[in-house]
Amino acid sequence: MHTLVPRWILSLCLIGLLTVVSQARVLAEPAVLGPESCRKCHKLELEIWEASNHAKSVESVHKTDKAKAIMKAIGEKRMTKTAACTMCHFTMVETDGKTKAVAGPSCESCHGASSIWKPIHSDYGHDANGNPLKQVAENAAHRAERTEASAQAGMVWPQRTFDVASNCLSCHGLTNDSLSADTLGKMLEAGHPINSEFELVRFFMGKPRHRFYPPDTNVNAEMTPPQMARFFIAGHAASIVAATQAQGKVAHPKYRAAQQARISAAKTALEAIQDSVSEAGTLLQDPSEANARALVAAIQDKDISGAVGDLLPAKNTYK
Ligand code: HEC
Ligand code: HEC
Ligand code: HEC
Ligand code: HEC
Repeated sequence: MHTLVPRWILSLCLIGLLTVVSQARVLAEPAVLGPESCRKCHKLELEIWEASNHAKSVESVHKTDKAKAIMKAIGEKRMTKTAACTMCHFTMVETDGKTKAVAGPSCESCHGASSIWKPIHSDYGHDANGNPLKQVAENAAHRAERTEASAQAGMVWPQRTFDVASNCLSCHGLTNDSLSADTLGKMLEAGHPINSEFELVRFFMGKPRHRFYPPDTNVNAEMTPPQMARFFIAGHAASIVAATQAQGKVAHPKYRAAQQARISAAKTALEAIQDSVSEAGTLLQDPSEANARALVAAIQDKDISGAVGDLLPAKNTYK
């Protein structure tokens, strides 16, 4: 992927960047462009996504009896046009002033609405003559700048695992702030699932996994044991924060029970590493976002796979 991008595409990117940045001053909120807008450069990721339940659900979810019962309970008719459903179930793209569901949860559901960050995230900088650089020529400082600028523009950068995990939970933990407690209560009464078993490793390492990193960008790499242990802990760190905040917000007994189950699972995971990583103990005592981020930062270069041990889910349970 990296070395195959022709120069003219990068030049187009730059022109795009200038246009988008000037539009951004007017628009402020980044727009969702849809998964097709990523295909040109991320063909392999697109193919993985197309085979996942995220992509497939757009064909079926609104037709199920369960969906119909939930819609009736909240007094709405079409799932693809009801904000209380589309915020989690669909990728909504605006064209010619009309917003439509173009896909199920897709690239930008996990990586952020891309109109502003898209031209920034793949721009490796320029040489003294103003020619675009290739990836190998980019220095560490520029990469750090590019990552930060993308994040500032709304990108959920894959290596920022606390942000990645919190974002999954806004849907999978039913913690999206735009969903009112009243609507949520009615949805749960009508049978909307609240799956307290969501866990990052188990839910990402199966069908959704895409890890085409250098040096071999054609291989969908498995994680090494230390990487996986860190991913697991980042997931639980995000989970204890989201579940603790959510508990106080919605009184529905099913909701409270599910969030409590998440907190218990996260406690087990954090207790397993607290002797080797003191930040885990601090997070257990005070499950704040700042403490969770401090923990994720503290384990970044550590091998905690020994302490996490067999808490990691078995491969045959991956979704
Ligand atoms: C013009 C080509 C191009 C388009 C279009 C494009 N990307 Fe990228 N993307 C790249 C390149 C090149 C990189 C590698 C950047 C690097 O080396 O860090 C990248 C990296 C990424 C990364 C990972 C960063 C990392 O290294 O961990 C994500 C996530 C990503 N793109 C998502 C998307 C999504 C989502 C879309 C569609 C909305 C998209 N990209 C559209 C070229 C593109
Ligand atoms: C806050 C995010 C969120 C909102 C809002 C939301 N859902 Fe869901 N929904 C999910 C998630 C996540 C799942 C998958 C749960 C699981 O099984 O892990 C799901 C599952 C479902 C299922 C079961 C799908 C299946 O294959 O069994 C139906 C039906 C459904 N939702 C309908 C709705 C309807 C109708 C609305 C709008 C009133 C809605 N949802 C709003 C997140 C949400
Ligand atoms: C379910 C959430 C989710 C969806 C949907 C998703 N991603 Fe990702 N993506 C991730 C996570 C998590 C990582 C980090 C993987 C890692 O480093 O282990 C990632 C990593 C990446 C990377 C860097 C690794 C690689 O494969 O080169 C790119 C590029 C990327 N995603 C692009 C995309 C594109 C394009 C789409 C849509 C076709 C997409 N993603 C859909 C969650 C998602
Ligand atoms: C924008 C909301 C949203 C985000 C963000 C999101 N998901 Fe989902 N996910 C859903 C919905 C909705 C479903 C249910 C689709 C259906 O069955 O109709 C689902 C289903 C899944 C499934 C299939 C579950 C099964 O039982 O087959 C997996 C696996 C999954 N998500 C993993 C993830 C992971 C991992 C992340 C974060 C890296 C993530 N999702 C982020 C909304 C989301």
